[in-house]
Amino acid sequence: MKMSTQKIILTGDRPTGSLHLGHYVGSLKARVELQNQYKTYIIIADTQALTDNADNPDKVRKNVFEVALDYLSIDINPKVSTIFIQSLVPELAELTMYFLNLITLSRLERNPTVKDEMKQRGFGGNVPAGFLTYPVSQAADIVAFKADLVPVGEDQLPMIEQAVEIVRKFNKIYKPILIEPKALVSKTGRLPGIDGKAKMSKSLGNAIYLSDSADVVAKKVMAMYTDPNHIHVENQGRVEGNVVFAYLDAFDADKKTVEMLKKQYRKGGLGDVAIKKRLIEVLENFLAPIRKRRAEFTKNPKAIMKILEEGTKKARIVTSKTLGEVRKAMKLDYFNS
Ligand code: TRP
Repeated sequence: MKMSTQKIILTGDRPTGSLHLGHYVGSLKARVELQNQYKTYIIIADTQALTDNADNPDKVRKNVFEVALDYLSIDINPKVSTIFIQSLVPELAELTMYFLNLITLSRLERNPTVKDEMKQRGFGGNVPAGFLTYPVSQAADIVAFKADLVPVGEDQLPMIEQAVEIVRKFNKIYKPILIEPKALVSKTGRLPGIDGKAKMSKSLGNAIYLSDSADVVAKKVMAMYTDPNHIHVENQGRVEGNVVFAYLDAFDADKKTVEMLKKQYRKGGLGDVAIKKRLIEVLENFLAPIRKRRAEFTKNPKAIMKILEEGTKKARIVTSKTLGEVRKAMKLDYFNS
């Protein structure tokens, strides 16, 4: 029998809040597009979410469900994509333990994303050990599935880099059985927050959520940062750094018209309200069907939990197999060697 050569994707999110347009542009879109081509595994990383939410289990629990709803409403298809819950796949925790020996503390302290996050959270000298080491657990998430490709936002590149280093070390010391993963980063680039800050994030309060109502979306668009010097309609305006145009670039399929509007805005004679109105329409076209599917799925929470349960079962079949190989390579297969 011929072995399947279908390539594997593993990616996912921390269940610490609902997913927003930044997530969509950065990674969700690629998952939906690639799910029929790649064997796709999507991790709801509750264990990772607990690394800085140990005192808030209710928040994590609630958001496991919300994130699953977000996935289903954007058309991640559970018939082809396997969605699962990290904490219920104990092989990932086991692999994390082995991987922790293949990386140094100083290397962990150099991860720029983790450094930023530690600053943002104001840990000071009290960094939870689990938080500093979460990139190792993330490496285990990826490697346990022998994933080839990891569609993620830019901020996750340091995680993939660390995963590759760990894989190389493992393969060199034990046996070359693990796959070096590659990151897949969106060409559209990072979507700014509605306030013009470089990143859309829950903690900055500048995000548009996939689950936002039409009213909320309109209000957020009307409040968007544009060009502070573009005061009168006839003024020349800046397109670069203008959030409305960044979103039109990401979501408006009619590129020709967007280019025309940019030209007009630069020249003067095009008002902020006009471009915002267009963006509201574009976003509504995109979000309305998502909202509709969300409402459908919300009616049947049991079915969603069932999808997660089935997905988790499927995930464990794969991780159990990998861990069998890992234990053997590490000479830990005491009773079945
Ligand atoms: N760190 C990712 C985030 O912040 C979530 C995550 C956990 C992940 N494990 C992963 C992403 C494995 C890609 C691959 O959302």
